[in-house]
Amino acid sequence: MSRKKVIAGNWKMNNDLTESVKLVNELKEKLAAESVNCDVIICPPFTSLYEINKIVEGTDIKLGAQNMYFEENGAFTGQISASMLKSVGCQYVILGHSEPRSIFGETDELINKKIKKALSAGLLPVFCVGETLEEREKNITNDVIKRQIIEGLKNVSEEELEKIIIAYEPVWAIGTGKVASPQQAEDVHAFIRNLIKEKFSAAAADRIIIQYGGSVKPENAKELLGQKDIDGALVGGACLKADSFIGIMKGC
Ligand code: PGA
Repeated sequence: MSRKKVIAGNWKMNNDLTESVKLVNELKEKLAAESVNCDVIICPPFTSLYEINKIVEGTDIKLGAQNMYFEENGAFTGQISASMLKSVGCQYVILGHSEPRSIFGETDELINKKIKKALSAGLLPVFCVGETLEEREKNITNDVIKRQIIEGLKNVSEEELEKIIIAYEPVWAIGTGKVASPQQAEDVHAFIRNLIKEKFSAAAADRIIIQYGGSVKPENAKELLGQKDIDGALVGGACLKADSFIGIMKGC
């Protein structure tokens, strides 16, 4: 099966409202003049979602958020619910990113609750997994990835899995400029696809989009995206400039 590639931009904690509007307008204009062979998602900060949705509505740029909480509403100061995200036009939500895992102590169990909630609310999760440098050096990359996938996808049905994108992001490659070699990335992607085959089915494994993330740039995108099991990219730093984000899409 040929899978259409998906390029997603994770803006992280960058761009206030004015800067967000400027970047997305530039992206929209430049993309309208290009023909790119991939789906495009942008994940700006919560505070920009409502305005950005008005700009991208009706275009091929899809909107996602960078996180959410699993409860519907209530006394959860500082948190945002799935229905709030839907109400401002989000279709996607990044869950399990290594920054909330490591900085804010998000566990596999919490991430699983968020994935379940996103699915029931009709949001499409971009579910991130990845090993730290220490784990890679100890040769336990596959064990870590397996645990994250199994725990994160607990009680997720094969039908629900169709709504999920997996992003493999080696923690040591995020924001460090150190990119995984195409072969290192491909090895883990193939491992993840095989896990999906074992846990779900061959058809599910064939269908699922597995993005690579970690210092993806226009210069390295083509080779990474040329690997058999790499179906797109989750881009941090390089998505903050329209030209470099589009440069990555051109690698599809
Ligand atoms: P990076 O971030 O491209 O800046 O390494 C990727 C990510 O964290 O999603």
